Amino acid sequence: MIAIGSDHAGFELKQAVMEHLKKRGEEFEDFGCYSNESVHYPVYGKKVANAVASGEYEKGILICGTGIGISITANKVKGIRAALCSDCFSAEATRLHNDANILALGARAIGVGLAEKIVDTFLDTEFSGDERHLERIRMIED
Ligand code: RB5
Repeated sequence: MIAIGSDHAGFELKQAVMEHLKKRGEEFEDFGCYSNESVHYPVYGKKVANAVASGEYEKGILICGTGIGISITANKVKGIRAALCSDCFSAEATRLHNDANILALGARAIGVGLAEKIVDTFLDTEFSGDERHLERIRMIED
């Protein structure tokens, strides 16, 4: 189950990403926002990060204008490893090496087609499980 959220700047890309998730047959829940009206990205970053940290949702997707503010917010929540990705290489690497549990996207930085490919890469790549990466992930939490 995927938790997805955005601010107003990410609202339209979120709609497109949710359509894409439906086509992939993914189960997801939309944590808002629900229109283009101006809102505060930390509200939605925290909602999705808390949902993923609770263990009820396996992964999260967060979108704001740059993807920066909302990923900074999400990374304040214990157990969250949110990765802002603008390319597929990074999306693959952050799953393999960091076991990232939230993908952040910048709606003003990338187009819908690339966002969909990044989402596919993020969701389809398993954590490597390598001991050196596990050790480094443990060090993040210490
Ligand atoms: C909203 O205008 C914008 O600041 C926000 O979407 C995001 O880019 C912040 O990091």
